[in-house]
Amino acid sequence: MIMPEQKALYLPEKFGTFTVGTAPIYKPAQDEVLVKIEATGLNPADWGIQTYGMLLEKYPAILGLDVAGTVEELGANVTRFKKGDRVLTKGTIGKYDRSGFQQYMLTYEFMAAKIPDGMSFDEAATMPLGLCTSAVALYHDGVNAIGGTCGLTPPWEEGGRDKYQGQPILVLGGAGAVGQAAIQLLKLSGFGPIITTASLHNADYLKKLGATHVIDRKLSPEAIQAEIRKITSKPLKTIFDAAGLPETQNLGYDLLASGGTMAAVRPDAVKPEKKVADKKSFFMYADVSRPENRKLGTSLFAKLTELLERRDLKPNFVEVVPNGLEGVIPGLEKLKKGVSCVKLIVHPQETQ
Ligand SMILES: NC(=O)c1ccc[n+]([C@@H]2O[C@H](COP(=O)([O-])OP(=O)(O)OC[C@H]3O[C@@H](n4cnc5c(N)ncnc54)[C@H](OP(=O)(O)O)[C@@H]3O)[C@@H](O)[C@H]2O)c1
Repeated sequence: MIMPEQKALYLPEKFGTFTVGTAPIYKPAQDEVLVKIEATGLNPADWGIQTYGMLLEKYPAILGLDVAGTVEELGANVTRFKKGDRVLTKGTIGKYDRSGFQQYMLTYEFMAAKIPDGMSFDEAATMPLGLCTSAVALYHDGVNAIGGTCGLTPPWEEGGRDKYQGQPILVLGGAGAVGQAAIQLLKLSGFGPIITTASLHNADYLKKLGATHVIDRKLSPEAIQAEIRKITSKPLKTIFDAAGLPETQNLGYDLLASGGTMAAVRPDAVKPEKKVADKKSFFMYADVSRPENRKLGTSLFAKLTELLERRDLKPNFVEVVPNGLEGVIPGLEKLKKGVSCVKLIVHPQETQ
């Protein structure tokens, strides 16, 4: 019997060169869905894995974390979807049948949500990883949390909407995909002021998403601290560092109030001499397929379509890189040099 095949972009070995090849089309297990991928978003982790050889040991590897497409086949126990539904889902690092740089992938039923009418595949593919990252960092209930949690009540759950009115919060790096998701979720949580750092050309847009104050990220740490103190004299009990750089983590930790918590998207880079017992900082991991994060992931994806329909959560700006999966290669070069407030997207079905 000839197995059906698809095109996939492989990283053949550690530090290797991405190459298009073929892969089988996978069969969904009982609780899984096969997705025909129409749009995949590019992420810093994709070039990070290739450049630094991090996170993966098994090669050849398939990467790709932000996915939108149509349901092609359903596992026997799947009830939330039918064939042909337009869905968004998150890829999983290290699981090559669940990665987005190919034409078909598997995902768990609980890790997908229908895309509302009026939202394109490209727009939908800008969001899953940023949303999962911000949600895990801010709203994990703490049970077996990887690294830690800010322990907030999710705004999509009973009692979470507007719960934190009158409380200030700081998002370092608000213009990235993760930062934009965080600002929007924190607005739903009721925080105010929502202060963020970004390049000032992004200020108007970030204010539309929910930031109340945007501070120029290129100011010195002392100047950023001074700006924040002009905005609020209340203690900053929760800080999310959505950039995760050594300078942002150290700035965040300096600003964090006693008893406060700071989540960072990259490994802990707070100088050891700064650390004090009553200020928590942690590195979080967005993988909602892991048992520790599944409860949060399930609750987020269950409510996601409604949040998107109501425009409570809006997609990032899109820039499509042409040439199907081959486009990932120049796309990641561009991303590595730095993009501002935009998500690069490829169309796997257009691969030659
Ligand atoms: N731990 C996890 O599970 C996890 C999950 C997802 C992502 N991440 C990591 O999170 C980071 C952000 O990911 P992303 O997808 O949001 O990236 P992105 O969309 O490529 O973010 C780019 C943005 O970063 C901003 N930025 C750069 N340096 C900054 C600084 N010093 N201060 C404030 N903002 C700064 C820029 O803002 P301006 O354009 O305004 O200058 C730019 O718009 C990456 O390192 C990624 O690997 C971790």
